Amino acid sequence: MSDQPWDPSKPILEIENLSISFFTRLREIPAVMDFSCTVMAGESMGLVGESGCGKSTVALAVMRDLGKNGRIVGGSIRFKGRDLTHMSDEDLRHIRGSEIAMIYQEPMASLNPAMKIGAQLAEVPMIHQGMAKADAWALARQIVADVRLPDPDRILQAYPHQLSGGQQQRIVIAMALMSKPALLILDEPTTALDVTVEAGIVDLVKDLGHKYGTSMLFISHNLGLILDVCDRLCVMYSGEAVETGNVREVFDKMRHPYTQALFRSIPLPGADKNARPLVAIPGNFPLPHERPNGCNFGPRCDYFQDGRCNAADVDMSTVPGNDRHQSRCLKWQEIDWNAPIRAGKPKEKAPIGRVVLKMEDLKKYYSVSGGSFGGGTKKVVVKPLPSSANPAAANPPSPRC
Ligand SMILES: Nc1ncnc2c1ncn2[C@@H]1O[C@H](COP(=O)(O)OP(=O)(O)O)[C@@H](O)[C@H]1O
Ligand SMILES: [Mg+2]
Repeated sequence: MSDQPWDPSKPILEIENLSISFFTRLREIPAVMDFSCTVMAGESMGLVGESGCGKSTVALAVMRDLGKNGRIVGGSIRFKGRDLTHMSDEDLRHIRGSEIAMIYQEPMASLNPAMKIGAQLAEVPMIHQGMAKADAWALARQIVADVRLPDPDRILQAYPHQLSGGQQQRIVIAMALMSKPALLILDEPTTALDVTVEAGIVDLVKDLGHKYGTSMLFISHNLGLILDVCDRLCVMYSGEAVETGNVREVFDKMRHPYTQALFRSIPLPGADKNARPLVAIPGNFPLPHERPNGCNFGPRCDYFQDGRCNAADVDMSTVPGNDRHQSRCLKWQEIDWNAPIRAGKPKEKAPIGRVVLKMEDLKKYYSVSGGSFGGGTKKVVVKPLPSSANPAAANPPSPRC
């Protein structure tokens, strides 16, 4: 590993023109193309885009954990100035354990169900830094308190299944922080949690970022979350970064039609739904091997111009006057970004039909093994109506996504 000291005024993570493919028996799947982004020390970068656009692939490439069939086919990933794409396995192991940590969507995937929480947490600095057991347990206790879990001593003695989903995710965050990483990658860390628990975790992540000065790559399909947590954002569409910049600037002065469409399709805090009706993005997301020529967003774009937008690949271009703001759109200088939203036709609510399912005094009892409660009884009353009483039930509509 290079012994060159890293200059903290330089980017902590610098991804340049990264292209990643998965190789299947049928074909090469170009999952990420020409992706660039820069994260400075203490900065949080949000990666946002529809499911399948390549967010996790970027994260896994930084961890150099693309699996058997994934390969970096172009570009570079530099962490503290060192190129991760050409690093030995041993150097990578060292960096993964102590300098870069990753948090996944499903907390139980990162926890060992057979080990007490305290032992799992203490193991991290004991293995990576050779810390003595008593010190490692003391650090674990402090970090469990930092992630705002009540009664840290009881939590350290608990098994993962004894905690709720939100508590488990706090433990996973604690585990990632045990080695005080310089870069924390969070891949949809709250998607598996309910909304109130999500809000708590988001607050926690923001505070911990400030407290520890950790840089973050925060991945989410939820633009609202990214706006709340991050300093900068990178919007991805179909394997490419399409717009990147400071969160506030991109929010106030977006310069890519996909970013605009994303903002218009989500409810924003404080916005009046009548003054600012939500507009769905028309059409579908292309599969990696079915991308159109030219701009990937072209077929769904309100500003598409035949012969121009679909003529050749579109490069990122710098939006002048803004701090590292870039857009992958040929027409961003021509579009009237302040034009009012063309709202779709308001939809009439369908009239409510006859009753389809009716439940009355529903009760369900479970019998307890050993007969301690005298076996058990079961009484279920569910009255489906005959289909003749309800034409819709006889001809149910086909399922829709
Ligand atoms: N192991 C794999 N083998 C083949 N294709 C994959 C593999 N992992 C991801 N992909 C494909 O790469 C693209 C990007 O996936 P992913 O990075 O998981 O998207 P996101 O995280 O934005 O939902 C998708 O088209 C996905 O199907
Ligand atoms: Mg993903």
